[in-house]
Amino acid sequence: MSLSNKTAIITGASRGIGKAIALELARQGANVAILYAGNAEAAEQVCIEARTHGVKAQSYACNVADFSQSKEVCDKILTDFGGIDILINNAGITKDSLLLRMDEDSFDQVIDVNLKGAFNFIKHTSRMLMKSSCGRIVNVSSVSGLMGNVGQANYSAAKSGLIGLTKTVAKELAGRNVTCNAIAPGFIETDMTANLPNAVHEYIDTSVPLKRMGKAEEVAALVAFLVSDAAAYITGEVIRVDGGMCM
Ligand code: NAI
Repeated sequence: MSLSNKTAIITGASRGIGKAIALELARQGANVAILYAGNAEAAEQVCIEARTHGVKAQSYACNVADFSQSKEVCDKILTDFGGIDILINNAGITKDSLLLRMDEDSFDQVIDVNLKGAFNFIKHTSRMLMKSSCGRIVNVSSVSGLMGNVGQANYSAAKSGLIGLTKTVAKELAGRNVTCNAIAPGFIETDMTANLPNAVHEYIDTSVPLKRMGKAEEVAALVAFLVSDAAAYITGEVIRVDGGMCM
């Protein structure tokens, strides 16, 4: 198992893409810290499923936007697991509206969770990642961060910011063998995309080359590759997993 004896933190792991990533990393032998915002029961279910792969799994409540709470949780994970090798910054929210109608709070909240949340976790785990023989960070960005998207000034700014953060962290930590990459999913079937308008489904059917939404497991497969030894020479990269939408 390629990730045996490694410990991974996955934020927003109680459902959707984060859950799929946590279970895939566990399947490959990693011990997993399952971070969740509110649904303790769902997070515990993910732990139970992860443990069927013979790994250690534990859940932690954490609002990733909260700097000091993030530090407390990272310290607790270090005590519980003895080290941290892999960080997956997956937690994210949307609060969509056209710029003319977007209020300050919607902008701040989306930046705080999607962008500052990733900064918080990189900041609080980087020393431990540097101690690992092969530290890995994967930030979950979005095609919205690559091309902008009507109604998502806040979200696309946050996801673009995540790409700048990724490249800087990749440069700063490369000397310590820590890689940092971003992934940019397109339309993936999760709660976040459960209520897309018909026009968007028509767009997917007609304009996305692979003519369907992606599955969380297809995103998880990419993340599992990026944290593996096989990806040791890839850093500062942004990889789309979008059915060809954004090429
Ligand atoms: P989701 O809504 O199912 O999951 C998001 C997770 O983040 C949830 O577990 C939620 O509890 C957690 N979360 C939200 N706010 C949090 C906070 N303050 N602190 C800690 N955790 C928090 O959505 P999905 O689709 O699984 O999204 C995962 C990531 O993928 C997000 O970063 C999202 O922006 C990104 N993404 C999703 C796409 C899609 O089509 N579903 C496309 C591109 C990117």
